[in-house]
Amino acid sequence: EKEISSKLPLKDKVCLITAGPTYEPIDPVRFIGNHSSGKMGAAIALELANRGASVKLIMGPSHVKTDHELIDRVDVKSAQQMYDAVHSMVATTDVAIFSAAVADYRPANPVDQKIKKKSNTLTIELVKNPDILASVGAMTQKPFLVGFALETENELEHAFAKAEKKQTDLLVLNSMRDKGAGFGVDTNKIAIIDKNKNVSRFETKPKTEVAKDIVDEIIKKIL
Ligand code: CTP
Ligand code: CA
Repeated sequence: EKEISSKLPLKDKVCLITAGPTYEPIDPVRFIGNHSSGKMGAAIALELANRGASVKLIMGPSHVKTDHELIDRVDVKSAQQMYDAVHSMVATTDVAIFSAAVADYRPANPVDQKIKKKSNTLTIELVKNPDILASVGAMTQKPFLVGFALETENELEHAFAKAEKKQTDLLVLNSMRDKGAGFGVDTNKIAIIDKNKNVSRFETKPKTEVAKDIVDEIIKKIL
């Protein structure tokens, strides 16, 4: 019995994870999006399930497969849909991980007919999307919270500020300094920052291995 519980340490836990990009509609055929593949979030969802967790995966547009009997996947498109899905489930969640590359802004007035080509310039007004992670961070009763940060300069300083602002228990910093890290590649280089600003640094490795490091850190903190 002891062996089973050490192999499946998350057996009684519900984990929610956001992943992938979001698509923000401009008109019926166009959107604003980004190059997130959803691979990092999918790898974390599979790793959590392999450790016995019941996983709610809220995925933006992505072709990545995440088949596992313990993964319940909800596909969404926009940041607002992702926000709504998260808040419909967060009250019953033990651990929430926000790996999605959420669009910071969306077109203010998406139109329902295709925009016709006319003048030489076109201006699209954008408005800020809700910050899903910060909205959960601000709750009084909240799950153990894991955020991500992507920085291109003053990495640690910006990451510390983000952790504090969004009230994360752990913040995963994606290092963009490394060419084996980030969007569209199968490897990643991360550092993990806890509430006391302790920093654990990891080597560049496949995203499946990075997912194990992240889940190990979560288990160390919650069990
Ligand atoms: N995030 C979110 N909802 C948003 C924007 C970001 O849940 N509308 C989450 C991301 O999933 C990630 C964390 O917040 O876990 C940090 O995202 P990031 O883009 O690095 O930070 P921002 O606060 O958006 O700041 P900026 O893009 O200006 O660096
Ligand atoms: Ca952002």
